[in-house]
Amino acid sequence: DHSLMHDTIIILDYGSQYAQLIARRVREANVYCELLPWQTPVETALALRPKGFILSGGPNSVYDPGAPALPDYVLDAGVPVLGICYGMQLLAHRLGGRVAHSARREYGPAALVVDEADEPLFAGWDAGDGRGEPVWMSHGDKVEALPPGYRPIAHSDNSPYAAAANAQRGHYAVQFHPEVVHTPRGRVLLSNFVHRICGCRPDWTPANVIDAQTAAIRQQVGDGRVVLGLSGGVDSAVAAALMHRAIGDQLTCIFVDTGLLRLGEATQVVQTFQQEQGIRLVAVNAVEEYLEALTGVTDPEQKRRVIGEKFVRVFEREARRLGHIDFLAQGTIYPDVIESAGSGRGAAHVIKTHHNVGGLPDDMQFQLVEPLRMLFKDEVRRLGTALGLPDSLVWRQPFPGPGLAVRCLGEVTWERLERLRAADSIFVAELAAADLLREGTQQAFAVLLPVRSVGVMGDGRTYQEVVALRAVTTEDFMTADWARLPYDLLARVSRRIVNEVPGVNRVVFDITSKPPGTIEWE
Ligand code: XMP
Repeated sequence: DHSLMHDTIIILDYGSQYAQLIARRVREANVYCELLPWQTPVETALALRPKGFILSGGPNSVYDPGAPALPDYVLDAGVPVLGICYGMQLLAHRLGGRVAHSARREYGPAALVVDEADEPLFAGWDAGDGRGEPVWMSHGDKVEALPPGYRPIAHSDNSPYAAAANAQRGHYAVQFHPEVVHTPRGRVLLSNFVHRICGCRPDWTPANVIDAQTAAIRQQVGDGRVVLGLSGGVDSAVAAALMHRAIGDQLTCIFVDTGLLRLGEATQVVQTFQQEQGIRLVAVNAVEEYLEALTGVTDPEQKRRVIGEKFVRVFEREARRLGHIDFLAQGTIYPDVIESAGSGRGAAHVIKTHHNVGGLPDDMQFQLVEPLRMLFKDEVRRLGTALGLPDSLVWRQPFPGPGLAVRCLGEVTWERLERLRAADSIFVAELAAADLLREGTQQAFAVLLPVRSVGVMGDGRTYQEVVALRAVTTEDFMTADWARLPYDLLARVSRRIVNEVPGVNRVVFDITSKPPGTIEWE
């Protein structure tokens, strides 16, 4: 339980699409926080011994019937409170101010003029030139009269009360969104709130997290035995390294080579974990089994089902071979936890069904260990680096659970998989050489199409398969745009694939955004 070891901020989620961003900003200020639904009961909230509350924005009006409310404990706990947007309106409404209902939204940039430069909330805001700092507004209703004891501390053209405070009670409220990138100094504001106003120590660092988590894992596991399924992805890799740091040889990892991984990936996993990290690792060669199960399967959903079932069967078989096992460790991360706890937001991604080792048979009674359950992806990566995992693993782009099967359109055969692997590795190598793998694209890969086209090679006619290149930029993988890759890079990749990969005579580039396309082709 992190709250026992770290100063903790509670963020109450009122349904803002930015709520997770608030939490990430607080964590970036090296302060531990939890994002909880606004309905969270008092016992749960106070058990975390919060040093402050942040109230998120949200889509409602305080005048809506059944509008999300402000729990009493927020006001009674006697710790600082920061209300953002709807959070500000809630405070005003509750404490005797007035909120004006408006059907019209103010959406977009505004200039914030700080009126009280001494306010700790605005330390480092560089006020005083009278021109204001850019901030992002997105609200309908707004506060028209402040509650008693509150005073305005910043304004914008549209909002006389763009920020307000009751410093005595440690109450702060802002109409704009400090958590989004369009408010460039928003990070400073949130950092000021948690450090200067709530008095939190900056103790949420990778080294501290490792210490705290290894202690927690040891306590949970005792001298029990733990099994963990390594997929080759970042989350399970970092979970494995952390578990190993905590309990050494009580951990056994199972890595299933499905034949559906990218070039060199299976070897890298064994190399990194078995040889470099010294982790007990069972590497299972299940390539034949998977190929057999996939014979004749071309429907995308059917592929996913076949692969999911196969995984459960292989994993179960191998785990049984290990004898008595008490725990199953998983690389579940905080966004998954938030989504499933839910505050009524986004039932969106049904798609990630195979993400974790989920549906193991009922008679395999493991207890779960989820050491990354409170971490965001960027924190998981930092932890991985601190645990000594190589960049090539830590900064790996996401890879779907069903692997290359959903990038090998049509039937999945060994020959076609090898063709796809070769093309993909050329594309990725060229992107890496151009330094476009970490920032320029969030996901980039090759897809083998179930189409043949005519070409000419030397003096001969060819009739071979087509490779599509997919490269996207995205913040959250829910929406994405196709990456504007340089033409000469595309030309080089195309030339190399056609020359170096037997059976491919044509390369195309996917210029579809998401929506309406998805990132993967299946
Ligand atoms: P789509 O194709 O839906 O993908 O735009 C969004 C993100 O999810 C990944 N993805 C999957 N991940 N199991 C996974 O673990 C799956 O079945 C799966 N399908 C898609 C995809 O790679 C992208 O990052």
